[in-house]
Amino acid sequence: MKILLASRNRDKLKEVRGKVAGLSLDVLTPDDFPDLPEVEEDGATLEANAEKKALTLHRLTGLPTLADDTGLEVYALDGAPGVYSSRYAGPGATYADNCRKLLQAMEGVPEKRRGAHFRTVLAWIVDGRVRLFDGRVEGRITTASLGSNGFGYDPVFFVPELGKTLAELSLEEKNRISHRGRALDAWVEYLRGAPSVG
Ligand code: IMP
Repeated sequence: MKILLASRNRDKLKEVRGKVAGLSLDVLTPDDFPDLPEVEEDGATLEANAEKKALTLHRLTGLPTLADDTGLEVYALDGAPGVYSSRYAGPGATYADNCRKLLQAMEGVPEKRRGAHFRTVLAWIVDGRVRLFDGRVEGRITTASLGSNGFGYDPVFFVPELGKTLAELSLEEKNRISHRGRALDAWVEYLRGAPSVG
């Protein structure tokens, strides 16, 4: 079955494809269609953004559509950057800009107050019906970037159980424990129970 992932982010696509490898799903993206618009992420929550992205592209393509909205919520920063994670260092910010800004914002914050979590909300739409799935991983913000795998804030997010940042994990290791990996597990479990798509 063909499904659409409502994201042009190739890093997310890699992680989604890694999870669905054993299922008979062909994961397309907006880049496979000539004229799909960019969907503005202007919602106040991850849920609202995920639902908006999925609904907009589902209506335009008619395909079952999965959208992912993810945020990094840092306790010492009252949940920032949260829903604004992609543009934390300003419009057009690169992953490195955002990590740098976060490390600066956390300068001088002691180890025990550096807790944070990633949260992913997935919105899945088939025939106009929306279902949401979420996943999170708890960790700590490092004092310097470490590792070169993954993307986004992975080099500054330390997972205590593994003693590594997300950027020091392979794709498979990250997918096993990450926010997105866990949300995708819940979605895949749902799909397996849905006779028409499993
Ligand atoms: P989006 O709005 O869901 O596309 O993601 C917001 C921002 O969060 C992205 O631009 C990345 O910087 C960051 N992000 C999303 N997922 C991850 C992840 O799995 N690891 C690290 N950073 C991520």
